[in-house]
Amino acid sequence: MTQAFSDQEFTTDWFRTTQLTWDKLLTQFKPQRILEVGSYEGASACYAIKLLSGLVDHLEIHCIDTWTGGIEHQVEGIDMAAIEERFKRNMAIEIDNAACSVDLHIHKSTSAIALAKLIADGKTSYFDFAYVDGSHQATDVLTDAVLSFQLVRHLGVIGYDDYLWKIDPDPLQAPKIAIDAFTNVFSQKVAVIPNIPLYQLYVSKIED
Ligand SMILES: C[S@@+](CC[C@H](N)C(=O)[O-])C[C@H]1O[C@@H](n2cnc3c(N)ncnc32)[C@H](O)[C@@H]1O
Repeated sequence: MTQAFSDQEFTTDWFRTTQLTWDKLLTQFKPQRILEVGSYEGASACYAIKLLSGLVDHLEIHCIDTWTGGIEHQVEGIDMAAIEERFKRNMAIEIDNAACSVDLHIHKSTSAIALAKLIADGKTSYFDFAYVDGSHQATDVLTDAVLSFQLVRHLGVIGYDDYLWKIDPDPLQAPKIAIDAFTNVFSQKVAVIPNIPLYQLYVSKIED
């Protein structure tokens, strides 16, 4: 596993287990156009650059975040302005050190608006890989899932973080019910990628 550059700063280790999945999945799949819903301090986006920049000539990464935090961050009273500054600094360092050119697009907005705008801008079927790790509220997750599906190309991959995450007994306060609804309704258009630890779920888009 590659280490972060020493002058970068990440205050959480949420991404640690995902790294193991990406080490296998993304190095085989080699996505060049990446869409991320929920970027926080940039741990996942930086890792995608670190992992892929020696394998491809160019990366285009779109990061969507309100940088106001999800409900769970608001409860914990996290300083989201500091998180956003750290995201910008971490990404700048990662891009400076990347072995390939990186085109970063930052969409500071709710995911529903940013994803709808990307569709309106003609980016339907444009992305190789989408990583959905934004709001954990089921209504938002379902919206992110449906809109991200539109933006990913045929045989592209969509990854949903926190498939089994839960802090409240109400299923509408967690991603699983939304991801299940999406994969059920889109069952003829997506195939679940097997042999990945079930805390996350990855699908391949098999039909437009
Ligand atoms: C779990 S963090 C993302 C972590 C990041 N992918 C990583 O691995 O380091 C979730 C992020 O989603 C953002 N977020 C929550 N609800 C959102 C929404 N409706 N639209 C856009 N971003 C949202 C929060 O501001 C937060 O930064």
